[in-house]
Amino acid sequence: MLYIGVDLGTSAVKLLLMDANGKIENIVSKEYPLAFPHPGWSEQKPEDWYENAIEGIKELTADCDKSQVAGISFGGQMHGLVVLDENDAVIRPAILWNDGRTGKETEYLNNVIGKENLSKYTANIAFAGFTAPKILWMKENEPENFARIKKIMLPKDYLAYKLSGTFCSDYSDASGMLLMDVEKKCWSKEMIEICGITKEQLPTLYESYDVVGTLQPELAKELGLSEEVKIIAGAGDNAAAAVGTGTVGDGRCNISLGTSGTIFISSKNFGVDEHNALHSFAHADGNYHLMGCMLSAASCNKWWMDEIIRTKDYAKEQENIAKLGENHVFYLPYLMGERSPHNDPDARAMFIGMSMDTTREDMTQAVLEGVAFGLRDSLEVARSLGIKIERTKICGGGAKSPLWKRIIANVMNLKVDVIESEEGPGYGGAMLAAVGCGEYASVEEAAERLVKVVDTVEPEPELVAKYEEQYQKFVKLYPAVKGMKF
Ligand code: XUL
Repeated sequence: MLYIGVDLGTSAVKLLLMDANGKIENIVSKEYPLAFPHPGWSEQKPEDWYENAIEGIKELTADCDKSQVAGISFGGQMHGLVVLDENDAVIRPAILWNDGRTGKETEYLNNVIGKENLSKYTANIAFAGFTAPKILWMKENEPENFARIKKIMLPKDYLAYKLSGTFCSDYSDASGMLLMDVEKKCWSKEMIEICGITKEQLPTLYESYDVVGTLQPELAKELGLSEEVKIIAGAGDNAAAAVGTGTVGDGRCNISLGTSGTIFISSKNFGVDEHNALHSFAHADGNYHLMGCMLSAASCNKWWMDEIIRTKDYAKEQENIAKLGENHVFYLPYLMGERSPHNDPDARAMFIGMSMDTTREDMTQAVLEGVAFGLRDSLEVARSLGIKIERTKICGGGAKSPLWKRIIANVMNLKVDVIESEEGPGYGGAMLAAVGCGEYASVEEAAERLVKVVDTVEPEPELVAKYEEQYQKFVKLYPAVKGMKF
């Protein structure tokens, strides 16, 4: 049988076709626009996601035996607010995970409702990108749109709804709405009330590997697929990526270097850190996880390469970088503000420490290092909770760079296990589809059987010591500029 994993990302939808033994048969990627209508705002059209996903499925399956396709599932960009009216029409563009417009609403939730209450209701506090503050923003700023809302959903749930007709979400993705009681895995009646919505406006919740329906007959015809194809709930992209890298069960770690940068720690038990600096979410394997998320990771390098030094040859720019651990240039990676651990939508990126002998390579190196230091900030929170992490998997576009993996291994003092493919969420989505279709008894079993480590990047003691010194400088930079408006 064949399984389709749909990675609904911020720059593109990536579709992956996997056979029952985990072999990747085909990958298709379709880009769509990302709009920044005001500084710090970030929006996309759900219709673009859907059209590109459908075209992508057609391309993906063009040369395969279509009768073998058994299931489709998803790893979707998290937290985005998608709102539909009574005719199922999209009311306004989706407000994305890296949108920073909700400073006021986030403050209201954290300071007036109070972090302690939020943590009691949902296991998390409010961050600007989360869904609940966006609902409050809409209520205040777009009351006419707000009054038309019939359904509230997350990005990948829009695809599941269009494909199957089922209004659904999964626990991992719904954890990031700040509307769900993560420990009990149900909607929080307190948060529903605080946001001025009703439970009927929210989707039915499933485990990520649950079947939510089958392909709608007309769509099956259009795609040339069977009406029996199962649609499986899927997961937030980080949980899906964790599945795709075998980061399931207890105490495993995955780093995702995509548009965002995340550090994901799987756990059999529910847990919250005292200051809620890490997100406490449900996992796609039926358990839980802690996660730190930086809003700009591989996107910092993309911005630096595409927009500033204007090249497409990322590898060539990294070829001559040799002096690791000695860079006098530092880079703060806050192009879209920052989530973990600073929770500051007004933070901005900056280079610091340049002199007349600074080279283009130093600046490129600083960007890669700045992202690694940002990830280390979240790792330090985990370490302060007594969580012992010695190794991590890695995935996402940035994981293609051997240099970046080496920098990460040394800045974080972690063994970095590289797996066969860095297609985290797409592969994880296809694995969830396989579990949903009964090919594997559990997500853990699928991970054990399918995910293979092909290489390990070891930290080098001398470099770890140099980067320790560098990191101690890095941590002083953000506090020195905090609160400045640029
Ligand atoms: C996680 C987060 C990002 C997006 C990226 O909390 O906001 O990683 O899921 O798609």
